[in-house]
Amino acid sequence: MKKILALGASNSRNSINKQLATFASQQIPNTTPKVIDLNDFEMPIFSIDREKENGIPEAAHRFKEIIEEHDGIIISFAEHNGNYSAAFKNITDWVSRLEGKVWADKPMFLMATSPGGRGGASVLELANKLFPFSGGRVVASFSLPSFRNNFSPENGILDKSLKMSFEERATLFANEIMAGVEVKV
Ligand SMILES: Cc1cc2nc3c(=O)[nH]c(=O)nc-3n(C[C@H](O)[C@H](O)[C@H](O)COP(=O)(O)O)c2cc1C
Repeated sequence: MKKILALGASNSRNSINKQLATFASQQIPNTTPKVIDLNDFEMPIFSIDREKENGIPEAAHRFKEIIEEHDGIIISFAEHNGNYSAAFKNITDWVSRLEGKVWADKPMFLMATSPGGRGGASVLELANKLFPFSGGRVVASFSLPSFRNNFSPENGILDKSLKMSFEERATLFANEIMAGVEVKV
């Protein structure tokens, strides 16, 4: 069975992006989802001096290994001042110091949500633009505006046209996963 890794790019305990990424990972047929929490990969703020003095933290190696063990990755981004959360950016800075590309050429479904009407559109646009430079094979992307009105844990995406749009993107991602060779670990 192919394996999907999902994460909310946030370290909030009740992250709405983690909820959305978890939901999305459960909608990809014939795959096993695994959800990780960024709090399990907490590291000092990246600095070149820390790297020289102490090397790259074990959590960065662990994060990279988990990426490599999966057939596809779903990320939903928290938008902080139009950008990535500091927690997510810090992890990717450390992981980028390891050998190979951060996202290891994996098929990716990028999403964002926020309580506001733009649904994290700015951070999603940024990620869509930047991920190909760090080995992210972005297959599909989706933004969910006004999370509290448009999502429920029991019923998923409530608005009909947003639900259809999500399902179209999720199908693109699922097809790409099915077309690939399964990662053996
Ligand atoms: C420091 C900070 C900056 C934020 N900046 C934005 C922003 O630029 N755009 C936006 O839509 N929401 C912004 N928000 C609100 C977040 O979308 C909201 O906190 C959301 O719940 C974050 O996702 P999470 O629950 O997955 O952490 C910001 C929140 C914080 C704490």
